[in-house]
Amino acid sequence: MKEMKQDSSTIAWNAMGDEWFRLAQTGESRNYFIMPNMLRYMGDVCGKKILDLGCGEGGYSRELAKRGARLVSVDCSKRAIEYAGELAQKENLQIEHFVRNSNDLYGIASDQFDIVLCSMMLMDCEDLAGTLREAVRVLKPQGKLYASVLHPCFDGNHEAGIGRQGTGLDRQVVVMNYFEPKEWEAPLWGGSIPVVWRHRTLEDYVKAFLKAGLTIVDLNEPRASDEQARISVALAWLQKIPLYLYWELRKDQ
Ligand SMILES: C[S@@+](CC[C@H](N)C(=O)[O-])C[C@H]1O[C@@H](n2cnc3c(N)ncnc32)[C@H](O)[C@@H]1O
Repeated sequence: MKEMKQDSSTIAWNAMGDEWFRLAQTGESRNYFIMPNMLRYMGDVCGKKILDLGCGEGGYSRELAKRGARLVSVDCSKRAIEYAGELAQKENLQIEHFVRNSNDLYGIASDQFDIVLCSMMLMDCEDLAGTLREAVRVLKPQGKLYASVLHPCFDGNHEAGIGRQGTGLDRQVVVMNYFEPKEWEAPLWGGSIPVVWRHRTLEDYVKAFLKAGLTIVDLNEPRASDEQARISVALAWLQKIPLYLYWELRKDQ
């Protein structure tokens, strides 16, 4: 049987075990900002065939399946796929699951998906070009790739690259070196197990999309609504600075 290709992203995320599930399911920015904004951005998905690439604990897949989409969910973490499978079964949702590196989706046929979703994973995978090549391969012609990433200009979490200073609504983003570091190891916010963080510049993303044969249909810098801002100061700050960047891309060939 073919083995999944290992690289620094698959090794780091497999070492996370269950920690990510707790962070994902309780994280304020994911649950009240990143995820609802992405689901809104994707629009009506009823009847669509969707690949959730880097699905993690599977929250997006379950929500999209409840909205009438047909889901295939992929992650490099074996434990994440087991866990996502258990939750889908509990909720009686028909979701197909695969453990794969996003740069080699073997066993998943070409030209079949209306949508590939890469939620908060393009900055994590080691092989961006390979991941986009595979996403394009499995998309139908005119199919859409929706992606969210940490905003490369305003998010960093590194004292030598892009950092933050101050507190509350007056917190500032400090850019000391936009180009470096390209990668480092640190736990996720609120976590304890280190993962590899990658900083890709705006140019890195755009050139990689174009090289993969994708057309940029839209770019969105989600800004907190007043309702979201009332939840916490951290979310209210997102009315001032975009920490996330969303893309809508299309396979044209
Ligand atoms: C920040 S989490 C996001 C999870 C989920 N998409 C969400 O938004 O809740 C990144 C996910 O990408 C997965 N991942 C990272 N590198 C990967 C790779 N090379 N191939 C497949 N999955 C990968 C991780 O295991 C993890 O589940």
